[in-house]
Amino acid sequence: MKKIRVGICGLGTVGSGTFNLIGKNANEISRKTGGSVKVVQVGCRRPHPDCDLSTTDTTNDLFAVVNNPDIDVVVELIGGIDTALELVKQALSNKKHVVTANKALIAIHGEDLFKLAMDAGVCLKFEAAIAGGIPIVKAIREGLSGNNIEFLAGIINGTTNFILTEMEAAGNRSFSEVLKEAQDLGYAEADPTFDVEGIDAAHKMTILSSISFGVPLRFDAMYLEGISNITVEDIKYAGELGYKIKHLGITTKTDAGIDLRVHPTLIEKSHMLAQVDGVMNAVLVGSDAAGQTMYYGAGAGAGPTASSVVADIIDVMRDGDSVANLGFDALMDLPMVDISSIESAYYLRLRVLDKPGVLAKITTILSRYKISIESLIQKDAKRGEAPIILVSNIVLEKVMDEAIDAISNLDEVLTDITKIRVASF
Ligand SMILES: NC(=O)c1ccc[n+]([C@@H]2O[C@H](COP(=O)([O-])OP(=O)(O)OC[C@H]3O[C@@H](n4cnc5c(N)ncnc54)[C@H](OP(=O)(O)O)[C@@H]3O)[C@@H](O)[C@H]2O)c1
Repeated sequence: MKKIRVGICGLGTVGSGTFNLIGKNANEISRKTGGSVKVVQVGCRRPHPDCDLSTTDTTNDLFAVVNNPDIDVVVELIGGIDTALELVKQALSNKKHVVTANKALIAIHGEDLFKLAMDAGVCLKFEAAIAGGIPIVKAIREGLSGNNIEFLAGIINGTTNFILTEMEAAGNRSFSEVLKEAQDLGYAEADPTFDVEGIDAAHKMTILSSISFGVPLRFDAMYLEGISNITVEDIKYAGELGYKIKHLGITTKTDAGIDLRVHPTLIEKSHMLAQVDGVMNAVLVGSDAAGQTMYYGAGAGAGPTASSVVADIIDVMRDGDSVANLGFDALMDLPMVDISSIESAYYLRLRVLDKPGVLAKITTILSRYKISIESLIQKDAKRGEAPIILVSNIVLEKVMDEAIDAISNLDEVLTDITKIRVASF
């Protein structure tokens, strides 16, 4: 019977969930694998109230875990970059398999780490880093392995999805009010920047793009926009036009290269992704043989994330060295598509002076740029001002930006023009 010996570094939300899941489902794991997973040592600064460590060796020296000769798999669950990077490097150099949930580490240092892992002939696995309990890496690398992946679109940050869902449901609560509630409920960190400015989603999309298209991890070159500028008005007007606003990660393999971006997006209400509400996550995958498939589930939390961590440990036990090569030795360095070169439909919102002929001036400028209007809302004027909201046809982003500049220069346009991309899948 195969036995795999695990060392867990970090006993917070995911570490405690992983420790407990391995204990709770030991019989089920044996039944499925014919082997067993044993936690030999835990590295933590303090015990976790949910974990009974009475029969487990614990240490506050994380490097004792990665240097422990009795450990086959190091599970890195401390988060952050610096110490985690040193730990993972040391573990790989010691020829130990590594399982991590650390998206920032993989998105920024993944290529070096995968090279180290391949040279050492061990696995570096990261399912939990992307969408918590959703096995999206497995879906791409195993279930869809016979396909060319064409695009991915994902709601992969529960905090931003919770905020947008609540803003829509309440109809009158601002971004900052709902963010405060998310913090009180534990869905958002005290410093929410990583989530609301889209950095967390960008780390995850970087990894998904790389494994889907066999390209380098290009976090540095991707386009990134958070949700802090989304207003209740935009959510309401998008709703009137038949859309929901979601914070989406999108990556597409195009003839010009890899399009990789994270930004708020209007999605038709009837689309599956528009139904993904609250803290839930989902990833839509477009592929040449299977067509579109969608993967939905909890993107965070002790249980869901531990589920992915434990599945990675079981993979190591089942396949060992044969899963070490993730294709990171044969990356195609395709160019990155600049955001100005993407094609999209656009939602525009502007506030104008309530004077005859203003709409005609705007449509004249749009038609000069060969942009047509698919739908339009013109609201009643208040205090001599009126909002205009429109959705365009699909055009090149730089053409839309030039048209927006020209419209902004009209004397009758009173504020900056809000531009949100509209999904076309
Ligand atoms: N939480 C989720 O739902 C989720 C989902 C997907 C992925 N992830 C990823 O999983 C990883 C862990 O997240 P988490 O939510 O479990 O974080 P967490 O609750 O903050 O846990 C991290 C743990 O690591 C410990 N730690 C940090 N540095 C240490 C050191 N030098 N020595 C000893 N212990 C140390 C911390 O101890 P102290 O408490 O003493 O600082 C804490 O117990 C992160 O990379 C995160 O991005 C989390």
